[in-house]
Amino acid sequence: MITADHISFIYGSDHRAVDDLSFHIKKGEIAGFAGPNGAGKTTVIKMLTGVLKPASGKAVINGHDIVKEPLEAKRSFAYVADNPDVLLQLTGLEYINFISDIYKVPEDERKKRAMDMAERFGMQESLDTPMREYSHGMRQKLMIIAALTHNPPAWILDEPMTGLDPSSAYELKNLMKEHAAAGNSVLFSTHVLEVAEKLCDHIIIINHGRDLYQGTVEELEKKNEGMDLEQIFLNMTGYSRENGDI
Ligand SMILES: Nc1ncnc2c1ncn2[C@@H]1O[C@H](COP(=O)(O)OP(=O)(O)OP(=O)(O)O)[C@@H](O)[C@H]1O
Ligand SMILES: [Mg+2]
Repeated sequence: MITADHISFIYGSDHRAVDDLSFHIKKGEIAGFAGPNGAGKTTVIKMLTGVLKPASGKAVINGHDIVKEPLEAKRSFAYVADNPDVLLQLTGLEYINFISDIYKVPEDERKKRAMDMAERFGMQESLDTPMREYSHGMRQKLMIIAALTHNPPAWILDEPMTGLDPSSAYELKNLMKEHAAAGNSVLFSTHVLEVAEKLCDHIIIINHGRDLYQGTVEELEKKNEGMDLEQIFLNMTGYSRENGDI
């Protein structure tokens, strides 16, 4: 379970990037998080994962308040940040082991899970190469493998599809589906609305740090007959054909 309870965040003295946002992602659910550039998605994800402290409100992961019980909360989720360019001097395998040591993943379990994912993402051959020699997509895949190796109940992924080739994106979508089907929760931000449309039980659309819509894609499309998610999204976020924007 992933809960944002009236969270707000202010950068500097007065830039309110997130404004009183609440949502709840249940067990067994995949939720897509959409919104224009600068809408506040990464800021929300950073509050959920304890990177930023909310100015007000709270984030609760699997029953643990991220500010009051940070260790318990952090043990119970995997976080893939929006930037995969970290610790590039390490090889892929060294990075996986580094993260697995932090989460105390037993040797046999880490081997099995990490190697299984490396195979699915076509990364086995590259694990002994320093990450500085990886392409963007390879770095992204390695971050995903390392984050998911400890197999926690909640996954929180900030634009995880960025840079992935079609077969890797397909594998990641399957991993998300399998994880949710096993009774876990997945939240991921994306700009690819077709992915949200096909994959998500629940969609959260924000702009200027506030929610514009929360619910199923089906309900949203029912309310806006004849339009697909892209058209609805553009209308909601202030883009219109009449204005000549598209
Ligand atoms: N470190 C920072 N300092 C000051 N303002 C910031 C900082 N990070 C983000 N912001 C501002 O907060 C707002 C929300 O940014 P955020 O990165 O959360 O958006 P986003 O929805 O993730 O965008 P994108 O789709 O481009 O990733 C923007 O107005 C941005 O300029
Ligand atoms: Mg972002």
